[in-house]
Amino acid sequence: MRRPLVAGNWKMHGSCTSVERLLGDLIAGVAEQQVDVAVFPTYVHIAQAIGLCTGASIAVGAQDCSCKASGAFTGEVAAQMLCDLGCQWVILGHSERRQYHSESDELIASKLAAVVEQGLRPIVCVGETLEQRESGQAEAVVASQIDGALREQADLSGLVIAYEPVWAIGTGLTASPEQAQDMHASIRGCLETADGVESNATRILYGGSVKGSNAADLFEQPDIDGALVGGAALDAGAFLEIINAAAQ
Ligand code: PGA
Repeated sequence: MRRPLVAGNWKMHGSCTSVERLLGDLIAGVAEQQVDVAVFPTYVHIAQAIGLCTGASIAVGAQDCSCKASGAFTGEVAAQMLCDLGCQWVILGHSERRQYHSESDELIASKLAAVVEQGLRPIVCVGETLEQRESGQAEAVVASQIDGALREQADLSGLVIAYEPVWAIGTGLTASPEQAQDMHASIRGCLETADGVESNATRILYGGSVKGSNAADLFEQPDIDGALVGGAALDAGAFLEIINAAAQ
């Protein structure tokens, strides 16, 4: 049985004041339950979030990291620095990184190696555009993203995959539970042939306009093991609704 994971990607939102308020409300509302919960603030709010979450059952992660260990790479943050702060998770290959920062599968693979080397837990994001879905390429695109990112990795025992159709991110459109399940089953099939991955133990999250009202139907699907939540993660009530749906 895979333990559900609900992850909140805060993207480029927040201030010291709003982080304190949001985490205060989440910590008060998250009971000890059978769901892993993690939040992903901006780099500048990570230390504050870790301090606030001490003793609570909410883990803190980063939205990205460098593939390099250190050096003259202005603006970059190394996996080791995240580890040093007490981060537990790192999101890699989010479609906004792929789109606005031209991240390739090769770069994501090298970031994944850096994250794994530090003992951090990776959430590798994959997903097709609307054009790719409409032309019948969705499964092939996602399979090639997975193959490109996971190839030649040393240890992927803690790997989490997030399937986020690009057309559903921040748009209010969600894949239907059946569409999502079909893709999650196809992803699990890809994981079966990947080296160092135990496909049945690997959690596959769904992401893209997840909210309290659609979470339960998504989580009912056998291969959907939780959610990567954007917009709704900025509202404690909405995020708690999703966590509660995962706990059912
Ligand atoms: P959304 O974002 O929930 O706002 O669609 C999800 C994500 O980008 O991870």
